[in-house]
Amino acid sequence: MPRLDTVIFPVAGMGTRMLPATKVTPKELLPVYDTPLLHFAVEEALAAGARRLVMVSHPDKAAIEDWFAPQPELEASLAAKGKADLLEVVRSSRLPDGVEVTFVMQDEPLGLGHAVLCGAEAVVGGGPVGVILPDDLILGSPALAEMAEAWTGAMRSLVAAQEVPRERVSSYGIFDCGEGTPERGPVRAATGFVEKPDPDDAPSRLAAVGRYVLGSAIFDVLRGTGTGAGGEVQLTDAIAAMGGIHAFRFSGTRHDCGSKDGMVEATLAVQAMRHGSARAAPHLRVAAE
Ligand code: UTP
Repeated sequence: MPRLDTVIFPVAGMGTRMLPATKVTPKELLPVYDTPLLHFAVEEALAAGARRLVMVSHPDKAAIEDWFAPQPELEASLAAKGKADLLEVVRSSRLPDGVEVTFVMQDEPLGLGHAVLCGAEAVVGGGPVGVILPDDLILGSPALAEMAEAWTGAMRSLVAAQEVPRERVSSYGIFDCGEGTPERGPVRAATGFVEKPDPDDAPSRLAAVGRYVLGSAIFDVLRGTGTGAGGEVQLTDAIAAMGGIHAFRFSGTRHDCGSKDGMVEATLAVQAMRHGSARAAPHLRVAAE
């Protein structure tokens, strides 16, 4: 299976929509039923074959680094009490051998494009990189692995996509698929990509969600990308400038865990998974136990 060696996780945002929960706790560590958002994201990257995880974080979010640290006292205590099942749950959140995590700080939240550019310094080699936004939780099938499978050298970008209601387009990057662009399986070439369009001007209702496979040329393009919508450096603008844009219809179910209601829906979905009343996500080691 084709694999993505490096995945960048932009996790430096302030998570203001989730206040007050995110006043002290990073959004990425909020639990969805029993598991932090970040853990789902890491498992998805591993399912895509990632060996190098690059966290673009913020100095105030040190708890994210703590999540990856071993917890010998906790493990010893669980072992001493004979709690083998919980010990296994704690151990399963360790990274497998051969996978490394690197932290890069984005001191100011200057936008998603800027965050991805911050990650460039930790990228090795010239292959495509994956990007996962952990607050877009996709359950049921590992979207980034599907995208790694669909990636071809002829593409410059492959971006997870789903249709949204017209009144919501101004919250998303929206694809312009042109007249009658053929859809080849889940992949559709796009002629344009615009961040947060006005609903009256939006070229379609096909919206980007937080999974990207990007050719390494993206970093040079980002270096020359100025501020866009909201006064931030937009990844959408760099992808549009690079050309060779492709939208990918993933097969899982996406939950917007950057919003309170999306978090509740996701929590109920994971509860159903844990109780076996929904199809379990096979890529989640915790879910499988
Ligand atoms: P969001 O806009 O959804 O995250 O960015 P946010 O800014 O944390 O949330 P709100 O709007 O204040 O509630 C999408 C992703 O991009 C990251 C965020 O951490 C999130 O994972 N991001 C965004 C950065 O890492 N740096 C930025 O400058 C902007």
